[in-house]
Amino acid sequence: MSVGIDEISFYTSSYYLDLRTLAEKQQTDPEKYYTGIGQEKMGMAAPDEDIVTMAANAALPIIERVGSEAVDTLLFATETGIDQSKSAGVYVHRLLGMHANCRVVELKQACYSATAALQMACALVARRPESKVLVIASDIARYDLNTPGEATQGCGAVAMLISHNPRILSVSPDVGNYTDDVMDFWRPNYRSTALVDGKYSTKIYLRALKKAWEHFTAVSPLQFNDFSYFCYHLPFSRMAQKAHQHLAKLNHCALTPEQIEQQIADTLLYNQAIGNSYTASIYIGLCSLLDHLEADLSGQQIGFFSYGSGCVAEFFAGQIQPGYREGLHTERHRALLAQRQEINYDEYLSLYRYPDPQQGESVEIPQTTQGRFRLAAITHHKREYIPC
Ligand code: CAA
Repeated sequence: MSVGIDEISFYTSSYYLDLRTLAEKQQTDPEKYYTGIGQEKMGMAAPDEDIVTMAANAALPIIERVGSEAVDTLLFATETGIDQSKSAGVYVHRLLGMHANCRVVELKQACYSATAALQMACALVARRPESKVLVIASDIARYDLNTPGEATQGCGAVAMLISHNPRILSVSPDVGNYTDDVMDFWRPNYRSTALVDGKYSTKIYLRALKKAWEHFTAVSPLQFNDFSYFCYHLPFSRMAQKAHQHLAKLNHCALTPEQIEQQIADTLLYNQAIGNSYTASIYIGLCSLLDHLEADLSGQQIGFFSYGSGCVAEFFAGQIQPGYREGLHTERHRALLAQRQEINYDEYLSLYRYPDPQQGESVEIPQTTQGRFRLAAITHHKREYIPC
């Protein structure tokens, strides 16, 4: 029985900052961002947008199609959780009108946890083929102002319906894993921005890729040349380009540098426009590939490298299914990006510093989002979400 991704949809914020604006303010050459890290824009959440509203907006078209009774389990992956106890998925469950017999849980391991959720969802469906699992990954990447990480902020959410005989991608059970206790990027509970040892984190990413790949090739018959395209975790596009060149070199690949670049180029396009979306980024990369590549991908093997700082990494494979375009939301994604509003530097700063009440004071939040759900208030430490 084949198990995997039946439908996929992503969402991002209503606002974005062009990295040229940031570069001008910092008196940095914009090419450092456009070319050096390969990013153009970063998504900035409106005051009434957060990981819950983005998640609900991402999952909405899936639930509208399958119905609110169809999903048995909702797995919510994030590394920017809004509560130490309650799963963000429980709010989404209510906003989408899902039934009370659906289990909901949140998973955490930096940017890796959406892949853990995907694999667990596949295992649940393999055990009971009639079941459907909704996997949602949603994050807002935040670093301190005036740090090297600032230009790699961003936000986004992706929702994937996992089922048997999936329409988009059959996920292979053969995986290569790598875990190591390192401090390359982390966020203690008392901080709203991540701490990162930037250069070290890029080295650990590449080491984890090598180790996960070695494990993968030890358990899977697939080799480098069996893959047509590769989706990487995308902290910034240049990282994936470096990683893919690294993997090609490790495998003594005979392709030209241009051919190697072509194996990931379409996966980067959405990320370049929204920035790092942590857990969601690798699967928004899959959306980007499927939405942009005109050639028919049916039957092609896609390689996935998922990386979560700290660190846990996984390499796995998926085969594109005939008729996969039925499970995509390409037009919706294009419209979403087209309707975003650009902000200037002062607006960026005021969104960055928007009050996050810590002492229980009440805050009413005006409606600015263009999405279907919003954070309307925070009252006595309780977040109140409503449909728009
Ligand atoms: N024109 C063109 N290119 C330029 C340029 C210019 N004017 N100026 C600089 N560049 C190039 C540099 O040569 C460099 O390229 P190479 O890496 O190929 O040498 C690139 O632009 C970046 O320049 P710097 O190395 O000087 O950049 P930096 O040190 O200021 O910041 C960073 C880079 C450390 C990665 C920083 O963006 C950062 O800390 N990011 C957050 C951490 C991160 O994303 N790590 C990735 C791995 S961890 C992970 O994946 C988990 C996660 O999601 C965070």
